[in-house]
Amino acid sequence: MGNDFIRRLGEKYLMKNYTRQPVALVKGEGVHVWDAEGNKYMDFVGGLAVNSLGHCDPEVVESAVEQLKKLIHCSNLYWTEPQVELAQLLVENSDFDRVFFCNSGAEANEAAFKLARRYFQVLKGSRRYKIITMYKSFHGRTLAAAAATGQEKVHTGFDPLPPGFVHVPFNDIEALEKAVDDETCAVMLEPIQGEGGINAAKKEYMKEVERICRENGILLMVDEIQCGMGRTGKLFAYEHYEIKPHVVTLAKALGGGLPIGAVLAVEEVSRAFGPGSHGSTFGGNPVSCAAGAAVVNALFERGLIKNAAQMGSYLYEKLEDLKEKYGFIEEVRGLGLMLGMELSMDGSRIVDLCRKRGLLINCASEKVLRFLPPLNITREHVDRAVEILDEVLDSISKEGEDGIG
Ligand SMILES: Cc1ncc(COP(=O)(O)O)c(C=O)c1O
Repeated sequence: MGNDFIRRLGEKYLMKNYTRQPVALVKGEGVHVWDAEGNKYMDFVGGLAVNSLGHCDPEVVESAVEQLKKLIHCSNLYWTEPQVELAQLLVENSDFDRVFFCNSGAEANEAAFKLARRYFQVLKGSRRYKIITMYKSFHGRTLAAAAATGQEKVHTGFDPLPPGFVHVPFNDIEALEKAVDDETCAVMLEPIQGEGGINAAKKEYMKEVERICRENGILLMVDEIQCGMGRTGKLFAYEHYEIKPHVVTLAKALGGGLPIGAVLAVEEVSRAFGPGSHGSTFGGNPVSCAAGAAVVNALFERGLIKNAAQMGSYLYEKLEDLKEKYGFIEEVRGLGLMLGMELSMDGSRIVDLCRKRGLLINCASEKVLRFLPPLNITREHVDRAVEILDEVLDSISKEGEDGIG
């Protein structure tokens, strides 16, 4: 089956909720993927920040396959070794004490919202329920996660959204201070907004957010579903800010490609989830957890977090060089291997042209090209990707000169 055949079947049988590129991917290895016609691409989308060890990392594959042969699923009525092993790895490498596992990012955030409300309503005997989030944030597609998301386009047509979510401008401490009241239970934010266009929180802002939460006795929750798991050059992006949140949510890269989400919380807050209060049939599935443990071990044993910092700086400099060259590049920003290039125009043609030359990138919000390569990339990979991007940008700038573009 070629690309077009698979695309046509998809167009016939699948709902039309995704805008897809016109290729069907069939195989991946390291930083590369292949389509159904054997074309090879360098993958700087990385499954939207999921494939942080590249495609089909041998250790992740082996852990998952071994587990598949032993026990695929048994429910949370029982303990399993992979689930407790992954929880131990996350707790021992973080500021948190306990973990709740689920299956996706949206579910992790749902669990965090429920945890925050229940912490106040059950443990503290207060009716606090409001959760403050940021404009341009993205927290997922379930109703509550959509309500938390500070982007109108994610809300459209889904009324009534669950109440209790308040949005404020990102990096605006006064707005946050004004929004907190005696019904607020938590603030949730992404240290680096991903879908919103790679916008990093300022250091002094994060410190102030922490202060406001502390002074008001409310919870600080960070959504690291996209920016976590080593991508920014630290295991958790919040570590760049010298803050200590009460809760962090994870998903995406945690499972090395298998579906998993997690909520990590400090002991006192975690107590809000007593027996029967929350759960998930597949949450903490042994196969996903076995893959997750392989991912966390690889991050440390192979020095991948340091590599993300080094390769991130290298890629950043190269993208800055392109900015000097092309007037339509407005800004290069981000941290580690979570980088964005803001353009003065829609970036979808650049995405198409890069793909035709063998490089996969995507656009986060229409004008920001987003780069999320695996954390084990080399200088040679970066050089090749930037070379392709440069060729594409050059062709676009020439069209402009000719008055075609
Ligand atoms: C920061 C952030 N939070 C939550 C989500 C939702 O994750 P999922 O698609 O796994 O539900 C995403 C997905 O892009 C995300 O980037």
